[in-house]
Amino acid sequence: MKVRRGPRSGLPVVVAIHSRALGPAAGGIRLRRYPDWRDGLADALRLSEAMTAKNAAAGLDFGGGKSVIAVEPGVELTPSLREAALLDVGELIESFGGTYFGGPDVGTGPDDMVVVRRSTSRVFCLPPEHGGTGSSSIPTALGVFAAVRAGARHVFGSPDLAGRTVVISGLGSVGALVARHVASAGARVVVSDVDSSKRDSGYEWVDPEKALRTPADIVVPAAVGGVLSPELVPELAAPLVVGPANNQLTADAVADELAARGIVWVPDFIASAGGAVYTLLREVEGLDEAAANARVEAIGATVSAVLDGARDNGTTPLREARRLVEARLASQRAFES
Ligand code: PHE
Repeated sequence: MKVRRGPRSGLPVVVAIHSRALGPAAGGIRLRRYPDWRDGLADALRLSEAMTAKNAAAGLDFGGGKSVIAVEPGVELTPSLREAALLDVGELIESFGGTYFGGPDVGTGPDDMVVVRRSTSRVFCLPPEHGGTGSSSIPTALGVFAAVRAGARHVFGSPDLAGRTVVISGLGSVGALVARHVASAGARVVVSDVDSSKRDSGYEWVDPEKALRTPADIVVPAAVGGVLSPELVPELAAPLVVGPANNQLTADAVADELAARGIVWVPDFIASAGGAVYTLLREVEGLDEAAANARVEAIGATVSAVLDGARDNGTTPLREARRLVEARLASQRAFES
């Protein structure tokens, strides 16, 4: 891991590598406000670990890493400061010499990757006119939709979402696309976001502090992580929780509490893998769009396997998903020895 104050921006930039057991580390570049830069550092560490699990469980030959640009309180993020910070993080990424590749994440998009590329070539998801495959939010949302349907099949006996109430907490680049998918599938969609200007998105609205507690068939955490806490679990009013937010649980033990209450939770690192799957298979492995999308859709089968395994073995989806990760890492170790 490397942390420094960007020489151009003065902002703290972090690149954290958690594992390279399966290949070079890959994970997005998060640009977010934090109360303290050390919160950004802690976030990068947790998020890089989640990327190891995500890439391993999805069968990708990549390890886990993440970058964070921490915007501190009182700092106004002007366009020129943003550009400087992206050049700074690119320079830090370049210093890893190809053992870590970045891409977009919360707070960044394909156009930002064009700026990052001025400092390093180790960056995915450039816009198509710059030679990349563009936004990873589109395949991430497609994978979440597959996970939602697989979860519905497990919990309700049918993947059909017609007439189901789906609450989406967080109408960012992924959440908004998930809303569109489930609405097209005939669900009643209720949304929330900390940005109240998104109220007129055309969907029913619930205030963000109430979103996860809203009675529903399915709750979709699509904002930042750390939302499923021991305090929240007893107040959940939905039998199925599945969404793209990374690191949804405040601690692993929350998975046991969810299971004890009969709430089915799809591990985030399984449900959110679509962006990584699509981007890495297309940009590195050279798969065409249809083949890469088929691999994204296959997230549904992984979700079914994890949920059925938890039910049949009397464990939790988290334990089953972790087993998948461990098996992948162990097979690599066996291969190496
Ligand atoms: N940042 C996204 C994620 O957390 C997508 C992404 C993955 C982007 C890997 C680049 C590389 O999965």
